[in-house]
Amino acid sequence: MKFFLDTAELEDIKKYAAWGVVDGVTTNPSLIAKAGVDQETRIKEILEIVDGPISSEVNATDVEGMVEEGRKFGAWHENVFVKLPTTPEGLQACKILRSEGIKVNMTLIFSVSQAVMCAKAGANFVSPFIGRVDDMSQDGMSLIEEMTQVWMNYGFDTEILVASIRHPRHVVDSMRLGADIATMPPKIFDQLMKHPLTDIGLAKFIEDSKKSQA
Ligand code: E4P
Repeated sequence: MKFFLDTAELEDIKKYAAWGVVDGVTTNPSLIAKAGVDQETRIKEILEIVDGPISSEVNATDVEGMVEEGRKFGAWHENVFVKLPTTPEGLQACKILRSEGIKVNMTLIFSVSQAVMCAKAGANFVSPFIGRVDDMSQDGMSLIEEMTQVWMNYGFDTEILVASIRHPRHVVDSMRLGADIATMPPKIFDQLMKHPLTDIGLAKFIEDSKKSQA
């Protein structure tokens, strides 16, 4: 499974990229606004750090505007994936951008039927938002289960990018189901690595090594 960082914070991207486990980065208008940066400048900075898919979301909602922004983003670098909302207009923009060889990540997916429509329009990635489904007292992971089953039946090339991840179990369960990518906030990288028995075991080894060196 590929691990993406879901952030526009440069320091976080540098930190986890140094661990050697960051395969790509996703951003959205909220993350860009939270970082308080210019979108183009920040995406170009991220491209310098991570050699993998970097998602940049369009701000327009009409077909023409999304295609125009998508062409601009696509010209920045071949690793830029244009993030489009899953609307009828987004679908049309996806089809046009894909026909020009520009890569697309369809975002804000909440049903398997939406994901299939995006795959049929040629999207490279589909992003189901499982945490936001959980927030509605529904089961986000069952969306991934349905999607992976449909993907197996029909062999779509489109990769399933699990988004809106809230905890490490979301990542592990997505892997058990065979999803392709998980995009997660920086703190999830820490949580995936942390185990109290590792800390306790290491403290004991350090203590004992001092005895043998004495
Ligand atoms: C994915 O590409 C989105 O940026 C993100 O995962 C949304 O997550 P949230 O529901 O925590 O905002």
